[in-house]
Amino acid sequence: MITAKTIVAGVVGQPISHSLSPVLHNAWLTAAGIDGIYVALAPTVEGFGSFVEGQRGGHAIRGVNVTVPFKEAALAAADEASARARLAGAANLLVFDTDGKIRADNTDGLGLLGAFEAQAPGFDPAAGPVAVLGAGGAARGAVAALLLAGAPEVRVLNRTLVKAQDLAIDLGVKVTPGALADAGAQLAGVTAVINATAAGMSADQGLDVPLEATPADAVVMDMFYKPLETAFLQQAKALGRRTVDGLEMLVRQAVPSFEAFYGVAPPAEVDARGLALKVLNA
Ligand code: ATR
Repeated sequence: MITAKTIVAGVVGQPISHSLSPVLHNAWLTAAGIDGIYVALAPTVEGFGSFVEGQRGGHAIRGVNVTVPFKEAALAAADEASARARLAGAANLLVFDTDGKIRADNTDGLGLLGAFEAQAPGFDPAAGPVAVLGAGGAARGAVAALLLAGAPEVRVLNRTLVKAQDLAIDLGVKVTPGALADAGAQLAGVTAVINATAAGMSADQGLDVPLEATPADAVVMDMFYKPLETAFLQQAKALGRRTVDGLEMLVRQAVPSFEAFYGVAPPAEVDARGLALKVLNA
């Protein structure tokens, strides 16, 4: 029941209708017995700044998750940001504190590493070079998370080389830029390959990457999860590589967000992944 005391939080993006976050957070709220509601909000691109400013003080909304295309703007709109959000150059979480401060964080990196922990146990980001495909916002977040987790080298391979070079300039000497077309040479010796490109979202636009160039024990991850088993992950499985999917990352980035909004961990008895899968397949 919605009452005068109901705590409101949500997710902000454009478009937002396909977001799985409300399903996760509302299931957790119900199971935890918290008087809260988590809604999806879609301000216009021009209206995002005034939307955020309007929440200052937390009078209406305690906080929001932020998704495409607002993650960079969310970081810029905050008064304070965590080190991981600053390194990623993006925020997926804004908290409207009652002291009037807007605080930004980025839990995508935790989601990424948590997904590896769950689906490729024993994987150590610090054990060797990791390849990230793509050089957009999603790739930048993945690179930041890997560096913070101690990766000795992150090879950023992008269709447009100059964008990989720009990312390397921003994120430091451990990032080595390369062209996606050279993936065959660049994938030798990596401990993992992470697809952070927008390719493969549509069936006719799959990535053409020679995954056979990776070591046999390399882990292959795709940040995209529609479908759950992308063509990229299918290719990896056919080669016998361990795989990690983007849905696990989505579920795991939501956990620290819930904690930031409601001050408690989500109840463990909720099968968050199962719920998300049900909605995904509906
Ligand atoms: P996001 O914020 O989700 O990362 P983005 O900033 O638009 O989205 O970045 C999209 C990334 O996917 C880019 O690295 C892009 O490569 P280019 O920089 O060369 O455009 C990559 N990408 C998109 N479609 C691709 C395709 N068909 N093949 C390879 N890379 C692709």
